[in-house]
Amino acid sequence: MKANHFYVTTPIYYVNDVPHIGHAYTTMLADVLARYHRLLDMPTFFLTGTDEHGQKVHNAASEAGITAQEQADRTVVRFLEAWKKLGIAYDDFIRTTEKRHTAVVQDILKDLYDRDEIYRGEYEGWYCVSEERFYTEKELVDGKSPEGKPVERIVEVNYFFRMGNYQEWLIDYIDKHPEFIQPDFRRNETLGFLKKPLGDLCISRPKTRLPWGIDLPWDSDYVCYVWFDALVNYISAVGYLRDDDQFNRWWPASYHLIGKDILTTHTVYWPTMLKAMGIALPQTIFAHGWWLVGGEKMSKSVGNVTDPMEIMDLYGIDALRYYLMAEMTLGQDATFTEGKFIKRYNSDLANDLGNLVSRVLKMIARNAGGAIPRPGEAGDAENELRAQTLGAVEAMEEHLRGMSLDRGIGRAIDAVRAANRYFDQMQPWKLAREGDTERLGTVLYNSAECLRIVSGLLYPVIPTKMTELRRSLGLRDDEIEPHLASLREWGGLEPGRVLGSVQALFPRIEKPKEAKPGAAAVPKPKEKKMPTEEPEAEIIDIDTFAKVQLKIAKILRAERVPKADRLLRMDITLGDEERQIVAGIAEHYAPEDLVGKSIVVVANLKKAKLRGLESHGMLLAASGAGKVRLLTLDEELPPGSSVS
Ligand code: ME8
Ligand code: MG
Repeated sequence: MKANHFYVTTPIYYVNDVPHIGHAYTTMLADVLARYHRLLDMPTFFLTGTDEHGQKVHNAASEAGITAQEQADRTVVRFLEAWKKLGIAYDDFIRTTEKRHTAVVQDILKDLYDRDEIYRGEYEGWYCVSEERFYTEKELVDGKSPEGKPVERIVEVNYFFRMGNYQEWLIDYIDKHPEFIQPDFRRNETLGFLKKPLGDLCISRPKTRLPWGIDLPWDSDYVCYVWFDALVNYISAVGYLRDDDQFNRWWPASYHLIGKDILTTHTVYWPTMLKAMGIALPQTIFAHGWWLVGGEKMSKSVGNVTDPMEIMDLYGIDALRYYLMAEMTLGQDATFTEGKFIKRYNSDLANDLGNLVSRVLKMIARNAGGAIPRPGEAGDAENELRAQTLGAVEAMEEHLRGMSLDRGIGRAIDAVRAANRYFDQMQPWKLAREGDTERLGTVLYNSAECLRIVSGLLYPVIPTKMTELRRSLGLRDDEIEPHLASLREWGGLEPGRVLGSVQALFPRIEKPKEAKPGAAAVPKPKEKKMPTEEPEAEIIDIDTFAKVQLKIAKILRAERVPKADRLLRMDITLGDEERQIVAGIAEHYAPEDLVGKSIVVVANLKKAKLRGLESHGMLLAASGAGKVRLLTLDEELPPGSSVS
């Protein structure tokens, strides 16, 4: 790779059908990588597009009773809309029916034909329409393609690319360039494939069988095979044979991102084509795994697709972006269910990040005049939080290089958890109450600074929400999109900056918004208590407290209340007065243990009715560690004694 450039591509998608989560995933991944590289101030080019020729598109059009071009024109709109809604910031979108592409494909074909890299021959083989490729007899499994798709026998005159000539060269190249095919186990898969003799590649289709494609420049009875056309998009889009400056600026690509379904076309066809053209190979072809539903690949032909637009409309763009990026370990398959989606959202975004944001911003608003406070000296706890947060930045950069984005995101969320723990331990609400302004400022500053860095770190993944958060932190428009360099150092938040308004960034999802038949139930999330202050700790003055009349009472009788598991009825004496009270302590005390005990009651409480029984007064009890214990005296005093 040219270390000072970043050129990333996605597969160009067939326009026989509308996009699903699988297509959205690769495109989003490219978007996230492109955004990170822009934050590194690296010149970045992100290409995606649509693959509009070939049998699949032709068949879809025939079924719909429209022309293939109409099919393409209608469907491409769906891709463009989806990418726009998902916040995909591509630099170019190429359609293979565009002249800028078809003309370049024809020039390449002509050149290869003139140099005898392409020749005319007779072909006999098994063709799989759904995969758009031929298989040899030996490759078939039970009369079907290795993927289990139907094949048909075909004998015809065609044109062939001398791919077989490049077998030894390709094996050698792959051996010498371990970064060329990633992850490693995919490289081994390709090398395994190359152990068998590599035949020549049929690059044409007679128009009698398939009229929809790019004409071969020397024989108008034929169109170009869709893969030989499609792969060229990666160079036609950046000016190959048309604009040398542009081409030299971006090529070779840094990453071709693909799904594992199209490994062979990208790691065998494409490099041999480039070699024949005399062009350098892309730096890395990275094949990710599949999104599965019920153990099967999500795909239109299986009929188990999830519409990304639907999820996005229900839960928001960033929620979907976060889930797809955080959930899939690059290279491995992952399972998509709405239940898993909601669970991860609630745990990482609603509980961890959302709560940190709301408690930090709320406390700054209430206790620091709504502006970033000035921090005092950092102690061990601050240093540790800082190390955790800056460690996440370093880890993210490393995981980006290693294409383990999910782990980078995990480290950012770890930093958020560390900040929540720090907040809990420092108890800033207590510092506020005690008037320790300096420590309070330190705690709030450091928590907010962690948020500044984490929001920058997650910005490429969830740009909309992190823009909101960064605005709330008082960052200016030109600071919203962070330079990665600004995240490597602690202390970037300027004291005195006035915070923006605070809104719930990630409201919890309590249940699936749309109960789909067969959709997994939402796992009951563990509710976390995230105090910003002691529970209901309204500050009151002594006069208010003095209104409460507490007295010592002696329990005379006690019994269970029928049909009320938790309630006990008691007769108590206040010395000069007998009363009945009802209390919810039956799970903690047996009636017989209570008789004779001296307890504390609120004597001047309005009478209340519980299960039809009058309760005149309330006893005091403490709860903690799952227990409830009555307040008693350490030495006996007569009933009616006052408590103050
Ligand atoms: O193959 N999980 O187009 P295509 C993850 N036009 N990713 C998935 C997926 C899933 N279940 N389903 C699809 C073609 N994808 C050719 C490519 S490139 C020069 C020509 C993604 O519409 C994944 O990136 O079948 C996969 O490789 C691609 O969509 C296939 O899209
Ligand atoms: Mg496909």
